[in-house]
Amino acid sequence: MTKQWWKEAVVYQIYPRSFKDSNGDGIGDINGIISKLDYLKELGIDVIWLSPVYQSPNDDNGYDISDYRGIMDEFGTMADWDRLLDEMHKRGLKLIMDLVVNHSSDEHAWFVESRKSKDNPYRDYYIWRDGKDGREPNNWESCFSGSAWKYDDATDQYFLHLFSQKQPDLNWENPKLREEVYSMMKFWLDKGIDGFRMDVINFISKVDGLPDAEAPEGRKYAPGGDYYMNGPKIHDYLQEMHEKALSGYNVMTVGEMPGVNVEEAKLYTAEDRNEVNMVFQFEHVDLDSGPGGKWDLRPMKMSALRDSFTKWQKGLEHEGWNSLYLNNHDQPRMVSRFGNDKEYRVESAKMLATFLHTLKGTPYIYQGEELGMTNVQFDSINDYEDIETLNMYREKVIENGEDHEKVMNSIHVKGRDNARTPIQWDETEHGGFTTGEPWLKVNPNYKEINAKQAMADPHSVFHYYRKLIALRKENPIMVYGSYELIMPDHDKIYAYSRHFEGETMIVMLNFSEGTPVFELPSEYESMADLLIGNYDTEAEGDIREVKLRPYEARVYVLK
Ligand code: NOJ
Repeated sequence: MTKQWWKEAVVYQIYPRSFKDSNGDGIGDINGIISKLDYLKELGIDVIWLSPVYQSPNDDNGYDISDYRGIMDEFGTMADWDRLLDEMHKRGLKLIMDLVVNHSSDEHAWFVESRKSKDNPYRDYYIWRDGKDGREPNNWESCFSGSAWKYDDATDQYFLHLFSQKQPDLNWENPKLREEVYSMMKFWLDKGIDGFRMDVINFISKVDGLPDAEAPEGRKYAPGGDYYMNGPKIHDYLQEMHEKALSGYNVMTVGEMPGVNVEEAKLYTAEDRNEVNMVFQFEHVDLDSGPGGKWDLRPMKMSALRDSFTKWQKGLEHEGWNSLYLNNHDQPRMVSRFGNDKEYRVESAKMLATFLHTLKGTPYIYQGEELGMTNVQFDSINDYEDIETLNMYREKVIENGEDHEKVMNSIHVKGRDNARTPIQWDETEHGGFTTGEPWLKVNPNYKEINAKQAMADPHSVFHYYRKLIALRKENPIMVYGSYELIMPDHDKIYAYSRHFEGETMIVMLNFSEGTPVFELPSEYESMADLLIGNYDTEAEGDIREVKLRPYEARVYVLK
């Protein structure tokens, strides 16, 4: 396994709309980000993944792009963006941009042309089909509810949109479209960026013929993932993208890949295959979903989480590379989901951080995670902004008469706006995010949870992250060490060892409010030095048996 800068890096994701507003319009912007670079430098991260800042009508907050080479007016100008890159590079920070090329906006010039006529030169940039028996061309469901097809009367055909009706899917079968994408990628690479995060990149190759999927009982539309996730030409496309756009640049790539399994991930990330460096897999964020999908709530069981992470740690041990994340702009806040965001908020946020940073792979921190920010519960559906949430509510409650309270509860647990409330910078109005009216309400807990307070408190979640990130730089075992599970059947403790160049690290994580006892396997010598822990603990000691406190995390290096 080779050493690479992107394996040793810690990535921080910025969702620009919610990060920091500099001009009082209630929307985060590029100058706001620049004003916080020193904060991020202090945290110690190496790379920023910037969610889309391109021109967009914002049907899906920038994931619907109308000009891939222009900056969204609300976020600033290209000159602001150039300054951002410059200010980042001056501080030794790298920038990876979001590449959203499974679909564009319906307001992109290509689509405006494409929908005009069947013989328009841009027609084949998108996926157009005739209807079948007065219905859509197939029964696929959009990831944002309803049919994945929209009828367009200009040409009496339907176009495919796996996401919103304003996000038509691009046709990767068309070599001209592919060349356009590669040329656009080189435009940004030549500006000096350090890589791409690729949005649902394993959706770009659809199965020939776009066959109907099997619909669950009583449902009109069916999740069609089997026909577009990890499709037949996906590896060819990624290898071509590497050859024509990425090769020759020392950049990192991470592919967002819903529905990817370990075997496929090996193919995507094996170094000699030249596809992507790592993937975002979804297994661990699907564990609390039932057969009805993400809104069909199930309890999150630590044992399932442990099984899943262990499978990925072992699966990509020799080939490929893992990305490590517990939340992002699409997922609930990690402390609310995997920890306890009430009486043990600080302890459990630190425990989860310990987990994330002591696994093998590249850790991704989502903005506000370093403050232990939590989910939000707005009472009214009108306070929500996310298109996925709003479409789902309309379909379930308004069209199908499902129970409002039940659906609101699922939104409180799973909705994407949980992660999108503005960053809580201080205790002033709107958490210091904006001097205007924020586009999405600030979480009412901003007076207790905010960056100013966290930076002033040496015991805060923020300072714990700082320490973890610094430790990762000093201890290659945290990056490269192999992973072995300890106490594989315990229902509260998740523990593992890491091994590298003769050194052994032991990680103990208590995922409960109880006080279970960790037991070291007898093959190890038990005298150890504490590397980090989230409670006051002796710097060294015998760790044969350790009674853990609620949500306690300890990391030791054996003597
Ligand atoms: C995944 C992105 O992370 C999400 O925010 C977006 O809605 C979809 N892809 C569609 O682009």
